[in-house]
Amino acid sequence: DKKIRVAIDGPSGAGKSTIAKLVAKKLGIDYIDTGAMYRAIGYKMLQNQIPLHDEEKLLKMLKETDIDFSNGNIVLDDEIINEKIRTPEISDMASKASALPPVREKLVALQKKMGQSKSVVMDGRDIGTNVLTDAEYKFFMTASSAERAKRRWKELSDKGETVSLEQVEADIIQRDLNDSTRKLNPLCMAEDAMEVNTTGMTIEEVAQKILEVMKWQS
Ligand code: C5P
Repeated sequence: DKKIRVAIDGPSGAGKSTIAKLVAKKLGIDYIDTGAMYRAIGYKMLQNQIPLHDEEKLLKMLKETDIDFSNGNIVLDDEIINEKIRTPEISDMASKASALPPVREKLVALQKKMGQSKSVVMDGRDIGTNVLTDAEYKFFMTASSAERAKRRWKELSDKGETVSLEQVEADIIQRDLNDSTRKLNPLCMAEDAMEVNTTGMTIEEVAQKILEVMKWQS
């Protein structure tokens, strides 16, 4: 039977993963969080103290790295890393690691493979433009940086992290800049994607909008 591929891209904190997870659940298909894969690499680089510019160590590490999703868990070499990769430190490292060509090469190949074998909702920065270029549905989610910072700040505060809203917004703006100006697969909207500005919308409203668009288009 026919596979459905839904690509959801956009800047940090636009609500992509929450929405992607919900849409996948409603469609009864798998959700793949590609940001978590870059975070896993950032996490491993920090753990193993691999400098960003030590290509030899990086290549060796990548060769020995296994990233998988199972039962809603993110598994790095047999270790469940779900919560461990949701810190500002790992966000920053993931963003830096994601600009390294060998890192992208490995993860993009893995993601393409995941999208070939089954129906998926995949979210990230370059899914519509690079990973699943022939996805049936492509969305580009945006929201003002102030709103995105507020959402991220709440997430971090709920987890007991003490950070200022100003710092969170500054980090988000910096990460957007890194992501959209890097040479390799920068964050940008695919020509055939639909933009969804989620400023002022609830999670349920955004998910509903995406499901409606999918119905019209099919
Ligand atoms: O989406 P999330 O914030 O978890 O992603 C962490 C980082 O991974 C992003 O800041 C971005 O630099 C990188 N990333 C990427 N390409 C993707 C997904 C994430 O470069 N498809």
